[in-house]
Amino acid sequence: MQPYRIAIFASGSGSNFQAIVDQVQKGKLDVSIELLVCDRPKAYVVERAKEAKVPMFVFSPKEYESREAYEALILKELVERQVDLIVMAGYMRIITDVLVGPYFGRMINIHPSLLPSFPGVRAIEQAVEYGVKQTGVTVHFVDGGLDSGPIIAQRAVEIHEHETAESLAERIHAAEHVLLPQVIRWLREDRVSLDGRRVGVRL
Ligand code: GRF
Repeated sequence: MQPYRIAIFASGSGSNFQAIVDQVQKGKLDVSIELLVCDRPKAYVVERAKEAKVPMFVFSPKEYESREAYEALILKELVERQVDLIVMAGYMRIITDVLVGPYFGRMINIHPSLLPSFPGVRAIEQAVEYGVKQTGVTVHFVDGGLDSGPIIAQRAVEIHEHETAESLAERIHAAEHVLLPQVIRWLREDRVSLDGRRVGVRL
């Protein structure tokens, strides 16, 4: 099989980044992690990338005059490295057409709710506060809106009676760490097709 090159975008702790690295290192996911893109130089994911020897593009958005300006630099890195797939794993920024244009259908995001419920920030807290009995995890294509692109896969997570956001977050993250590498594997094996909003997966 041809090499399959991915870039991971993250802003925070990077537990999803780590889950992908672990699967690759165990030989369970046949992809090459070409780049970490991170918009917070102090984020813990930067330490994880150093440890895993993954090249990085780390930047401070406030040093650029617009989103488009830093995304143009990111795009250059992606093209130079022949990146096939962008994986947003806790990247807390809206993406513009600079990236969506060339990468639509090859850019995915993980979100900690069953979309379209609870898009945006604090999705885990929102689900607890609303009182839903089930929430979960969604992996979807990125389309430039807020968590609005076509859905590839979802997994439900029960909310228990005396649940707190902290206890729920643990089970949500555990579900993410399974689902995100799984979807990357499907894409790598060319099992995913996109027809308007509807996504098919050949299992
Ligand atoms: C995850 O819950 C992901 O769904 C959301 O941001 C969080 C990132 O966590 N988009 P981590 O940095 O991967 O630990």
